Amino acid sequence: MNVGIDLISFQTAQYFLDLRTLAQTRGVDPEKYYQGLGQEKMAVPPPDEDSVTLGASAARVLVDQVGAQDIELLLFGTESGVDQSKSAGLFVHGLLNLPRRCRVIELKEACYAGTAGLQLALAMVRLAPQKKALVICADVARYDLGSPGEPTQGCGAVALLISAQPRLLAVDAEAGFHAENVMDFWRPNYRTEALVDGKYSTLVYLSTLVQTWRQYREFTGRKLTDLARCCFHLPFTRMAEKAYIRLCREEKIPEPAAEEIRHILGPSLVYNRQTGNTYAASLYEGLAALLDNDPQDLGDRRISLFSYGSGCMAEFFSGIVQPGYRQYLMADRHREMLAGRTELTYRQYEDIFRYQVPEDDGDHVFAPYRTGYYRLQGIKKHVRCYQSIA
Ligand code: CAA
Repeated sequence: MNVGIDLISFQTAQYFLDLRTLAQTRGVDPEKYYQGLGQEKMAVPPPDEDSVTLGASAARVLVDQVGAQDIELLLFGTESGVDQSKSAGLFVHGLLNLPRRCRVIELKEACYAGTAGLQLALAMVRLAPQKKALVICADVARYDLGSPGEPTQGCGAVALLISAQPRLLAVDAEAGFHAENVMDFWRPNYRTEALVDGKYSTLVYLSTLVQTWRQYREFTGRKLTDLARCCFHLPFTRMAEKAYIRLCREEKIPEPAAEEIRHILGPSLVYNRQTGNTYAASLYEGLAALLDNDPQDLGDRRISLFSYGSGCMAEFFSGIVQPGYRQYLMADRHREMLAGRTELTYRQYEDIFRYQVPEDDGDHVFAPYRTGYYRLQGIKKHVRCYQSIA
């Protein structure tokens, strides 16, 4: 029985900063960001947007299509949750009126948490094929102002509906995975910005890619050329290029020309270049972008996915794109959302960045910005109050 991704929906903030504006303010050549990192814009969440509102807006589109009645599991993968105790998923569960008979948990392992959610959800559906699971990956990526990580900031969410006989991607059972205790990127509880050993983090990313690929290759007997397209975790889009080149080197295939790299990776990078890092969501944002934008029909073709979460956990796995998948995509919605965003000036970006959620027990009402279907209306006696706006 095939199990996998039945529907996929992506959401990002309605505001962005062009990295040319950031480069100008920081006195950096804009080509370092545009070419060197492969990023053009970063999505900036206003004060009334967070991982819950982004995740709920992404998931709402799926629930509107298939109904909520068969969803028995909601796994919310994030490293920017809104509460130390309560699952962000429970806010979404309430906003979407999901069934009470539903298991709801938040998962954390940096950018890998969504993949943990996906694999757990697949396991549930293998046992109970009539049931569905909702996996939400949502994050706000923040680094210190002026730090090397700043131009890779971003935010976004992806919701995946997991089912038997999926319409988009049947996920293969085999996977290579790898855990190791390293300090490449982390965020202590008292910080809202991540700390990162940037260069080291890229080295760990690549070494775990090789470890997990070797396992995958051994279990499946497949070669790199058996994969029609490769999706990678995208801290910035140039990282995918480095990753693919590393796999070619491992396979002793000649270094790919720019055209081949564009063919294998290009469509999967389209959204991330416009949003920046979305941590847990970024691999699946890449998958949505690939399915939405690849000019070729990928039906019946095998594609790979590499998930990396600092700290670290990594996983290499694959799936077969389902014939007829194109009619179930949300491509128009994704493109319109990205095209309709509002550009910020540097000053507006910094003001939003410096805004801090009140921590006292007062009744705080937030000014309305543009958001998706939901917004954080306020915080009253430490209780976050979310509002549906459409
Ligand atoms: N024109 C064109 N290219 C230029 C340029 C110019 N004028 N100036 C510099 N470049 C190129 C550089 O040559 C370099 O390319 P190569 O890597 O191919 O050599 C690229 O631009 C970046 O330049 P630097 O290496 O000098 O950049 P940096 O040191 O300032 O920062 C970074 C790079 C360390 C990745 C930093 O952005 C960072 O810390 N990011 C956050 C951490 C991160 O994303 N890590 C990724 C792996 S960890 C992970 O994946 C988990 C996660 O999501 C965080």
